[in-house]
Amino acid sequence: MNEPDWLSAVPRLSIGHLPTPFEPLDRLSRELGGPRIWVKRDDCTGLATGGNKTRKLEYLLADARLKGATDIITFGAVQSNHARQTAMAAARLGFPCHLILTEQVSWKNRSYATSGNVLIDRIAGAEVMIVPPDAAAEATSALTSRLTEQGRSPYLIPAGGSNATGAFGYVRAAWELLGDCERLGLQLRHVVHASSSAGTQSGLIYGFSRLGREVRVTGVNVYHDKPATLETRIGAIISTLAERHGAIAPPRIHVTDRYRGKAYGLPTDAGLDAIRMFARFEGLLFDPVYSGKAAAAMIDLISVGEFSGEDDVVLIHTGGQASLSVYDNAFTS
Ligand SMILES: Cc1ncc(COP(=O)(O)O)c(C=O)c1O
Repeated sequence: MNEPDWLSAVPRLSIGHLPTPFEPLDRLSRELGGPRIWVKRDDCTGLATGGNKTRKLEYLLADARLKGATDIITFGAVQSNHARQTAMAAARLGFPCHLILTEQVSWKNRSYATSGNVLIDRIAGAEVMIVPPDAAAEATSALTSRLTEQGRSPYLIPAGGSNATGAFGYVRAAWELLGDCERLGLQLRHVVHASSSAGTQSGLIYGFSRLGREVRVTGVNVYHDKPATLETRIGAIISTLAERHGAIAPPRIHVTDRYRGKAYGLPTDAGLDAIRMFARFEGLLFDPVYSGKAAAAMIDLISVGEFSGEDDVVLIHTGGQASLSVYDNAFTS
């Protein structure tokens, strides 16, 4: 499928290793006795261990350049994969990067604030500020004023890169995935992935619909106490995408809330088991916060017959492995 004009017209910097690989998981599919599982390897997008944010940053940083920004500011948890990819992408493009990271996860590990993603942020040369969640707004306005007084022009990227500009990365991913399937003669009907700040899921839903395809996108809530919060955000981003890039039929938003566990950032037994299983059957590495919970959902949804009648299902591997080192105690306890 050729890239439609409305897709190629949006300014984008080529930062990621795209298209990402698209692979069948034959051993695991046989073991689970369900449809054939395929994985879209967005953990291979290239930026310092990869991940889904790279697709969003291709559009966000293009926008920052067009607006004449001098610095990038973004937000996340201490072990944010988004912050890590932003730090690296900004470094590559020559933007100083400032990260306001909040202590919002109650996981206890001696190196939680020094290893994993935050280690990479520091290696990338980002300014890292770790603050309590209720101090983030104040830290942001102090930082913005400081930079403005210095005559600089900061560009603020929301947590997860999830606004309509960033989500456009996943509109393009929908097109890329349809192309993968077309080349292999697969009928793409169902996609599963970890969902938290809504950009990935809203981009995919909008993208498939705008490209005229009916593909069910199941978002595995890993963040929100109430899944309705995630659904509302997805709906809002889709509305903005529709205003900017063309209307679509009223979207169906599917969020499952059964796999998050007690809270964001806390591993679940099912997630840890899924991580071991994908590693041992397919040599693939997932993480306990995001992709491992999506992998657990995929295993469970197959076991409850969710995909009966379907020949192929796609798991989008959104990355996250950089945080594994701060979850070493989850695997040993
Ligand atoms: C590894 C990983 N998977 C999935 C997600 C969820 O993507 P989104 O925030 O676009 O919903 C994130 C976002 O933080 C992530 O880091």
